[in-house]
Amino acid sequence: MQSRIVVTRRIPDSAVELLRSAGDVHVCERDRALDPAELHEVVRGAHGVVTMLGDRVDDELVTAAGPQLQVVANVAVGYDNVDVPAVTGRGVTVTNTPGVLTDATADLGFGLLLMATRRLGEGERLIRSGQPWFFHLGFMLGTGLQGKTLGIIGLGGIGQAMARRARAFGMNIAYAGRRRAAPEVESELDARYLSQDELLREADALSLHCPLTEQTRHLIDESALAKMKPSAVLINTSRGPVVDEKALAEALREGRIAAAGLDVFEREPAVEPALLELDNAVLIPHLGSATVETRSAMAELAARNVAAVLAGTGPITPVGA
Ligand code: DGY
Repeated sequence: MQSRIVVTRRIPDSAVELLRSAGDVHVCERDRALDPAELHEVVRGAHGVVTMLGDRVDDELVTAAGPQLQVVANVAVGYDNVDVPAVTGRGVTVTNTPGVLTDATADLGFGLLLMATRRLGEGERLIRSGQPWFFHLGFMLGTGLQGKTLGIIGLGGIGQAMARRARAFGMNIAYAGRRRAAPEVESELDARYLSQDELLREADALSLHCPLTEQTRHLIDESALAKMKPSAVLINTSRGPVVDEKALAEALREGRIAAAGLDVFEREPAVEPALLELDNAVLIPHLGSATVETRSAMAELAARNVAAVLAGTGPITPVGA
């Protein structure tokens, strides 16, 4: 009997082809997440499930799928939608897609940093509004990056890629996080390891690259924002709930920090209404990995993980193993 593989959303054809070589594939031809009841219905009898952000993968999903379920492959590097201990505790392998989206996400993060410091969104809105403008020496001044310090919370793959881009722009690197990076990473990036409080106080730009966990939820809250420089810029390409959006909107409105660039939101896809009013908030809709090449690579890696587990050769990029 062929293995049943369920894919909860539309994915690139190249990934569907890879899955077909591993079993009988059922793709939910939709872009929005299924609600939990529909999700539980659709995974029934599956040996492998390909999931995405917004799909809650937990004990109940494993029960709904049935005892034959072997693997859940999440098409994302982040897996805060998966209750990993509950799922792996039932003997089901969980995989994610690290590595393949590192450059795309760092490119986007650096783009946000440039947008926020050089007021690019604001400038574009001005032109489109049809308001009159003219060049003069004090017109729409931003701030430069050269010689400034980029503070990174979470110097993993994406944090390092962001740091490399910053080095090319003449920035200095400091970082904080649960784990200290390897000495060769610190020396390549000339990166200083600081406590989180030191980093908040020193950074001219702070970029978040940590996973969302109970420890990092609202890591950047009112008290963290109060430690930042009034000239500092906050960039978030990690997960929305890492930042308390209401507190951030207040800090931006009162000029307690200079600007923010957000790709992710606390109650995605909803955005804190106060942020929408602010010219110093750059807001984009979760586009970190949104390139044709990267999204194909992510879906293909998820497909390869499913195929490998079903073939009994073991997952390529497991989590919680
Ligand atoms: C991820 O992979 O975790 C991103 O947020 C979506 O690409």
